[in-house]
Amino acid sequence: MTYTEKDKNYARYTVTSALPYANGPVHIGHLAGVYVPADIYVRYLRAQGEDVMFIGGSDEHGVPITIKARKEGVTPQDIVDRYHKIIKESFAELGISFDIYSRTSTKEHHETAAEYFDNLYKAGKLIEKTSMQYYDEEARQFLADRYITGTCPHCGNEHAYGDQCEACGTSLNATDLINPKSALSGSKPVLKETKHWFLPLDKDEPWLRQWILEGHKEDWKTNVYGQCKSWIDAGLQPRAVTRDLDWGVKVPLAEAAGKVLYVWFDAPIGYISFTKQLKGNDWEKWWKDKDTKLVHFIGKDNIVFHCIIFPSMLHADGSYILPANVPANEFLNLEGDKISTSRNWAVWLHEYLRDFPGKQDVLRYTLCANAPETKDNDFTWKDFQLKNNSELVAILGNFVNRTLVLTHKFFEGKVPAQGNLTDLDRQTIDEMATYPEKIGRSIEAYRFREALAEMMNLARLGNKYLTETEPWKLFKTDPERTATVLNIALQICGNLAVLCAPFLPFTADKMHRMLNLPAKGWQDAGRADILQEGLAIDKPELLFEQIDDATIEVQVNRLLETKRQNELNAWQPASVKPQVAFDDFGKMDIRVGTVLECSKVPKADKLLQFKLDDGMGGRTIVSGIAKYYPEPEKLVGMQVCFIANFEPRKLKGVVSEGMILSAEDRDGRLVLVTPSQLVASGVNVG
Ligand code: MF3
Ligand code: ZN
Repeated sequence: MTYTEKDKNYARYTVTSALPYANGPVHIGHLAGVYVPADIYVRYLRAQGEDVMFIGGSDEHGVPITIKARKEGVTPQDIVDRYHKIIKESFAELGISFDIYSRTSTKEHHETAAEYFDNLYKAGKLIEKTSMQYYDEEARQFLADRYITGTCPHCGNEHAYGDQCEACGTSLNATDLINPKSALSGSKPVLKETKHWFLPLDKDEPWLRQWILEGHKEDWKTNVYGQCKSWIDAGLQPRAVTRDLDWGVKVPLAEAAGKVLYVWFDAPIGYISFTKQLKGNDWEKWWKDKDTKLVHFIGKDNIVFHCIIFPSMLHADGSYILPANVPANEFLNLEGDKISTSRNWAVWLHEYLRDFPGKQDVLRYTLCANAPETKDNDFTWKDFQLKNNSELVAILGNFVNRTLVLTHKFFEGKVPAQGNLTDLDRQTIDEMATYPEKIGRSIEAYRFREALAEMMNLARLGNKYLTETEPWKLFKTDPERTATVLNIALQICGNLAVLCAPFLPFTADKMHRMLNLPAKGWQDAGRADILQEGLAIDKPELLFEQIDDATIEVQVNRLLETKRQNELNAWQPASVKPQVAFDDFGKMDIRVGTVLECSKVPKADKLLQFKLDDGMGGRTIVSGIAKYYPEPEKLVGMQVCFIANFEPRKLKGVVSEGMILSAEDRDGRLVLVTPSQLVASGVNVG
């Protein structure tokens, strides 16, 4: 079946993709890192005839969701309902082919997760510990780290969180903060004793070492293996699996009122509870049978949870299989900047689908071609356009279109006969036959970019074959030879329809329809008779269309606007200058003047020239605000403040006698300062 030796023994595959937090929509970073590769993998396995369970769902617990709800004045349930719907629908529209996409707020999930905890508890696999934690006496609750702010002991930032200072990046303990403050009530929290249950990871070190460091050195990705190794080498500590919080799965113990399971304890159990939710399904075979291959698709920030903590939970229970592989990806950036939900620096899937209807495969293609498999990678709209126009349109679309058009032109849309083969024909057919295995091997090794590139190489082979045989010139002199050439080109199209399906499922469907090709498995690919002689082919429709500059510009401009907004939001008043004595201030002579004339300084686009009534016979002042006052004549009659005792200086040939005061707004715009009521020209300001 599949091509990797070891995989031949698996009876079935359980494939999970990280459960996205339902506190925002899904963006291209999630897709490139997790969902597109996972979907390619499962579509490929299904095409191989394998038995596959593909699990997804929303992660609906955790503190950030409660914080967002509080900010918006709604319930956490409102938040997760909103985003679960958006996420689920947009995944479906992109063709992410989950067998189930569920959510962790379901009753079934709560039951499964609570039972899982209870089993570990009863089997004595958890340890209890009391510790001191911050408590808000006004709000009467313990505070999650994110709910405590204070001054960072490292950099003095006054808005650091109990788990991290975002100014200097240091990770903190809540008790490190100077002047801690509760984000709930604003009061000063007090330390209070609380009891929690811990997974004793320290005891897991020996088998983890053996299982990962010895057992998976060869087959796990180096980034994944490396992170595991440094965690294990640093020494594993017991890890709390409960929290003092009211949003989550209740801890099923009488003495644990007001406590829930830690989100990272309940969420991965979601993979199991969702499998159970598929009715009529023997869920245990997907989780407990040694012949099942369990694979977790995740982003790199999830590695420790899926390689160490969740396996420790599975191991502690004792009846579960462990993941065979955890192909974690690095991160995708956007136009050179880290993707960020809070800064709205992202391409959101639901917005893409709205702006580019019918172009799901273009996004799937671009994200797979740019997948951050071994290092962080960058998505740019220019590259998106380029990949569409010069790869999808120019290589794949063009080859299929030319072949189908010629078949209609010369053979009434019927697959012509394959006559005598030349050396070139044989070479081409032989090369075509190597692709199913080449692509399959790359997919099985989680090298999706390479797999995609190979698929495109088959389309390139097709184009090269047409260029060398020139069937459009041939028909007049040699219709029989033309028939053979087009037959072979059509066989390549048929093969592409099968082999592009894991990556480009919508395009594959279209090609199957145009070619009247019944659904084929991976095993049927590679053959030069996948389309039978005489088969009627539909009129070709274009598989892809050009994306023009204007379309791309709209997206780029939206990002530029986001950047501008973020800069405004990040603005803070400049820190106050060192103190000065009153006498020093007294040395400044600040006055009010009335504008008599105002015009642009010739040949200086930044400067305005003011003639002011200063109560002392008038003076001229030049000011660099022309950009902000495009109609200077309208300033006549307005009163401004100016420094009257500056040394005169010449600016672009005009002598300026002082300086006019203006305020600089957040965006750098200069605004003239004016008294709130009319006063006499020349009075002092002070
Ligand atoms: N919600 C987590 C994240 O987005 C992933 C949870 S994966 C699971 O980082 F295994 F816990 F479900
Ligand atoms: Zn800091």
